[in-house]
Amino acid sequence: MTQVVSMSSLKGGVGKTSVTLGLASAALRRGVDTLVVDLDPHGDASTGLGLSAADTREADTAALLAAPRKASFDRSAVPSGWGRIAGIGERARLDVVAGSARALPYDRLPATRKNLGRLRRALERTDRYDLVLIDCPPTLNSLTRIGWAASQKVLSVAEPSLFAVAGTERTMRAIARFETESEFKVPAAGVVVNKVQRHSEEHRYRSEELRSMFGRLVVSPEIEDSSVWQQVQGAAYPVHAWPGGEAAETARRFDAILEGLLV
Ligand SMILES: Nc1ncnc2c1ncn2[C@@H]1O[C@H](COP(=O)(O)OP(=O)(O)OP(=O)(O)O)[C@@H](O)[C@H]1O
Ligand SMILES: [Mg+2]
Repeated sequence: MTQVVSMSSLKGGVGKTSVTLGLASAALRRGVDTLVVDLDPHGDASTGLGLSAADTREADTAALLAAPRKASFDRSAVPSGWGRIAGIGERARLDVVAGSARALPYDRLPATRKNLGRLRRALERTDRYDLVLIDCPPTLNSLTRIGWAASQKVLSVAEPSLFAVAGTERTMRAIARFETESEFKVPAAGVVVNKVQRHSEEHRYRSEELRSMFGRLVVSPEIEDSSVWQQVQGAAYPVHAWPGGEAAETARRFDAILEGLLV
């Protein structure tokens, strides 16, 4: 069965897109056929996956959400640019439904069952992928709910800061409210702690706080704040193909998180 996972957080800049890309990289290395659905109209995940505007002219989330019952992933999804990277690109299929500003009107749709089920219905039309990763925008509008309605698991991404517990609580409450208001179920949730500075007392304290509040929901391992991350993303590269020990350590952590998602 296809595993569908949303990366979400009501706070911006915490690493939703980075976690999506890290998991996509781990899936490619492991040989897991994967689709990334970039629900954020900013399209950062699409850029990080090496797509250009020419790749995505017709094939984007707006096209997919417009007519989910006629969804064709031949038309709406394009191969990621990572497929061209030797040593990793040939291991599995990694396709992307690209983010685009054309999806913005879908963020303001009335929250009817029909509207919220748009991505879910589209995904029912394919069995090509073992894993679907959905990168959500940092808001609780319709696009995020459309992502949640399609997901078996929502991963809330948090930084270990003063606001992390409150922010994660808000996301968890929003998921619970979404379930009562929409009739869609989110079978599982988790918290990914990102940008952890190993030697920071404050970060250690906040990580512990998250664990004491959310217990087993907190995903192991945490992702460390890594200086190579900017370079990896700047080059639109999979972290698993980036040279050096720091990238290898980050890659290993994403392998472990992916392992937990696929069981
Ligand atoms: N583990 C990390 N180490 C270092 N930098 C990181 C890490 N994770 C994310 N970043 C950086 O933090 C910034 C924000 O990350 P990202 O774009 O993934 O967040 P986001 O939650 O998707 O943001 P938005 O809410 O705008 O969609 C980026 O510049 C990214 O490179
Ligand atoms: Mg993002």
